Amino acid sequence: MKPNDQLDPTIFVIFGGAGDLTWRKLIPALYDLSQDRSLPEQFAIIAIDRTKLGDDALRHRLRDGVNQFSRFGKAEGAAWNKFAQHIQYQQGDFQKLQTYTSLGRQCATLEKQWGAKVHRIFYMATPPSMFGEIPKYLGKAGLAHDRALAHIVVEKPIGYDLNSARALNATLGANFDESQIFRIDHYLGKETVQNILAFRFANPLFEPIWNRRYVDCVFITAVEAVGVEHRGGYYDHAGALRDMVQNHLMQLLCLVAMEPMVSFDADEIRNKKVDVLHAVRPIHPDAVHQCVVRGQYGEGWIGGKKVPGYRQEDGVAPDSQTETYVALRLFLDNWRWQGVPFYLRTGKRLPRQTSEITIQFRGVPHQSFPAESSLDWQPSRLVMSIQPHEGIVLRFQAKQPGPKMHLRSVEMQFNYRDAFAGQSPDAYETLLWDVMKNDPTLFMRADQVEAAWSLLMPVLDVWAQAPPSDFPNYAAGTWGPEDTQGLLAQGHTWPSTGESPEPGDPKKKDPRRKPR
Ligand code: BG6
Repeated sequence: MKPNDQLDPTIFVIFGGAGDLTWRKLIPALYDLSQDRSLPEQFAIIAIDRTKLGDDALRHRLRDGVNQFSRFGKAEGAAWNKFAQHIQYQQGDFQKLQTYTSLGRQCATLEKQWGAKVHRIFYMATPPSMFGEIPKYLGKAGLAHDRALAHIVVEKPIGYDLNSARALNATLGANFDESQIFRIDHYLGKETVQNILAFRFANPLFEPIWNRRYVDCVFITAVEAVGVEHRGGYYDHAGALRDMVQNHLMQLLCLVAMEPMVSFDADEIRNKKVDVLHAVRPIHPDAVHQCVVRGQYGEGWIGGKKVPGYRQEDGVAPDSQTETYVALRLFLDNWRWQGVPFYLRTGKRLPRQTSEITIQFRGVPHQSFPAESSLDWQPSRLVMSIQPHEGIVLRFQAKQPGPKMHLRSVEMQFNYRDAFAGQSPDAYETLLWDVMKNDPTLFMRADQVEAAWSLLMPVLDVWAQAPPSDFPNYAAGTWGPEDTQGLLAQGHTWPSTGESPEPGDPKKKDPRRKPR
């Protein structure tokens, strides 16, 4: 990591400073950066929220979050006290100019005290309804205009659909230059997601076969065992397509399918990603039912425990039509990927949590071995496992020991935890550090967000006109609705997922042999 003495003095302002995201993600990530000595010496966190709270009460609550979520474990007294002295609380209404003028005064005081120009980061950890408001007030209060030193950070969801995303981007753009805006998709901060670029473009080995001539199809899976937890109120107005596909799955698609970048320049990489979205064949409204499947979980069993159906979750309407599962088949109209299906799926309350990308290679052009030698034949696959087991598995055919020529699928594995000592930083740690360095490579640009919404709008429109009649259509703890099989072309089968061995556990080898 870049040494902290190269970072500008920084004021990190969190709107929603008393909220869940601050407690669960932002402060633990900033604390971890402080433990890695990656924060500048002159650093302040100003947490703003409506709640009446003193500095001490806020710090007490935030310490609890650090104790639960920091990768350094429980915050020890001295380390915590040193970090906590940087945190101040300001009570304020996000829709009153006075909140921002008083913030401006606080920043000016710190600037004077430090005798330096200060980098100001405004992080919107608020409900999305505030995303369009806060930038306007920051603009009015004169806190947005310094292009080099004022940055705003916004979390997904960036809009609810294409029009609202455009409106939000326009409000952000009216007050900040695009170079000052950091749109977070936390998937991009995951080590394994960043490793897709390293794997593809730092190794000449795979690039020649990364195309339609050798790749039969690509599966992108991000499924979870958890339900909507305490977020029913939000989720019931979003659904899986907005919550996961528009952002996280589209990011993975871009990284897998993009052309090689000329340099590691942020805009060069982001341009290549936007090119992928522009190449996706538009989904015609008449074809939505053939290439997209939606589902909603009913009650079922996970890990031996009975769990309620989606409609019984807190904050969810008892007759909700919201999808908790989506599978899609997409095609890219370009030279590299013409004719190769990309299958994407995501869902809640599936048997286990797994995010992975599977590249399935074509078979040999001519099978020279006798048919009985390859009874256990399975396509060669490269699996990039994003979580929970971080690594890469290559499956290929080998001769089974013995007098006969019997072929069997075997695996070669790379596991992060075996190869690299130490725990990977949390995605937020990486992303906050990048904001402080003013490096936008891992953040979404306005055009990318809008391109992703454009692709999905036909699906949202068709679904809005034809509500599902069969929800709930999968039981919690199963792999989703039956009709996802119908999406698959040319004899493809969904790969069994999430079964890669725990790092360093040779006993648990090769469970992938049985397809689901
Ligand atoms: C969030 C979604 O963006 O990503 C959640 O809103 C989902 O519904 C989460 O659970 C998954 O992220 P991760 O990092 O836990 O895989």
